[in-house]
Amino acid sequence: MSARPAPAPAPQPARAPRAMPLVLRPITLDTLDALLAIEARCYSHPWSRGNFIDALAAGYLAQGLQTPSGELVAYMIAMAGVDEWHLLNITVAPEHQGRGHAVRLLHELTRHARATGCDCVWLEVRPSNVRAREVYARHGYVQVGLRRGYYPAGVGQREDALVLRLDIGTSRHERSEHEDGHGLV
Ligand SMILES: CC(C)(COP(=O)(O)OP(=O)(O)OC[C@H]1O[C@@H](n2cnc3c(N)ncnc32)[C@H](O)[C@@H]1OP(=O)(O)O)[C@@H](O)C(=O)NCCC(=O)NCCS
Repeated sequence: MSARPAPAPAPQPARAPRAMPLVLRPITLDTLDALLAIEARCYSHPWSRGNFIDALAAGYLAQGLQTPSGELVAYMIAMAGVDEWHLLNITVAPEHQGRGHAVRLLHELTRHARATGCDCVWLEVRPSNVRAREVYARHGYVQVGLRRGYYPAGVGQREDALVLRLDIGTSRHERSEHEDGHGLV
């Protein structure tokens, strides 16, 4: 019986480059210029500097992911309620999207919610924001409501908001945290 050559390895699907190690740091006033530059590139109706200053002054959870050299790559702002958290803003710089940074921030928020004894996280998202809706759905968020005309849209127009909720008790957080290797820095 003749030896047959080993079959050629199957082609691997193209993937985004592996994410570089990023450091989780609080957002401060010193970070705001870099943050606002990302915000302006990511939204048709970005938050203003005053919105972020108010959020920091109110003591909201404000965290960013930075490269080792200090470049801001992603951030989130979330507000703690009595028994729940409300995610107000989560943004990843366009050139860094699709590398798991939003998922890492969502894990971090889930960890905060759990650590503070809360059992759910809320957020609003535009129906047209398909990418964000996919990320939230994969993370375990489900639609529980609709706010009509919640967002500004084109001139004189409004867009509805889908209200999503993550039930911490049944989230994929613990499983995916280990599987994905998104350890906290
Ligand atoms: C919505 C948004 C925050 C998502 O950010 P993102 O960085 O693209 O999200 P993630 O990369 O964490 O999403 C997870 C995806 O990355 C993949 N991923 C996770 N870790 C990875 C890694 N190490 N390498 C490559 N891919 C990875 C996940 O499998 C998932 O893949 P999918 O594309 O098949 O779903 C981003 O698109 C954004 O900032 N948009 C503009 C602002 C906005 O709309 N914010 C939300 C308002 S409600």
